[in-house]
Amino acid sequence: MLYRLYQPADFAALYALEEICFQPPIRYSRAWMRQLIANPSSATWIAEDNKTMAGFAIVEWTAVAKGAVAYIQTIEVHPALRRRGIAGELLGRAENSACAAGAVAIWLHVDQENSAAIRLYESRGYKRKGREEHYYARHRPAFVYARSLKESKAATHP
Ligand SMILES: CC(C)(COP(=O)(O)OP(=O)(O)OC[C@H]1O[C@@H](n2cnc3c(N)ncnc32)[C@H](O)[C@@H]1OP(=O)(O)O)[C@@H](O)C(=O)NCCC(=O)NCCS
Repeated sequence: MLYRLYQPADFAALYALEEICFQPPIRYSRAWMRQLIANPSSATWIAEDNKTMAGFAIVEWTAVAKGAVAYIQTIEVHPALRRRGIAGELLGRAENSACAAGAVAIWLHVDQENSAAIRLYESRGYKRKGREEHYYARHRPAFVYARSLKESKAATHP
């Protein structure tokens, strides 16, 4: 598995994966996805298997008084390639990009029904901080998870 940063030629494969992983109303539009990736305060990591996109993660960060706070916009792995550690690796790389940009903490929303993603985040030290009603759709709440990035500089990823 090759892990690398996004290049413009990746967009079609990346969006095809979004269409596999998420159905409306949760699915991001193409325009929104392009906007997220183009944000200069963001990083998009790609996992590639034999030149085929296996997964990706998008992290962004915002300056605050104490440095910056990062936010995981999404992390997605092709269904045929799950439970091989790809999301964990992408998440580690996203966290390291955020650290390099000065982020001291990272947070995200996750569908409260998405037990795979919740287990992934909890296994990487994220703690549940709250719940937002109707976040994804009416009666479809999100949990908010967060963790400090101060201790993660020792993570295994370059
Ligand atoms: C959530 C998702 C990204 C996980 O990807 P993945 O590559 O399979 O995850 P990993 O193999 O890195 O798993 C890391 C850990 O997360 C947990 N985990 C991941 N998938 C799990 C599942 N289906 N059931 C239970 N735990 C799971 C486990 O603790 C796992 O470690 P282990 O395999 O050693 O037990 C993937 O299922 C996915 O793309 N889902 C659809 C998109 C999505 O919901 N994204 C999250 C948006 S918030």
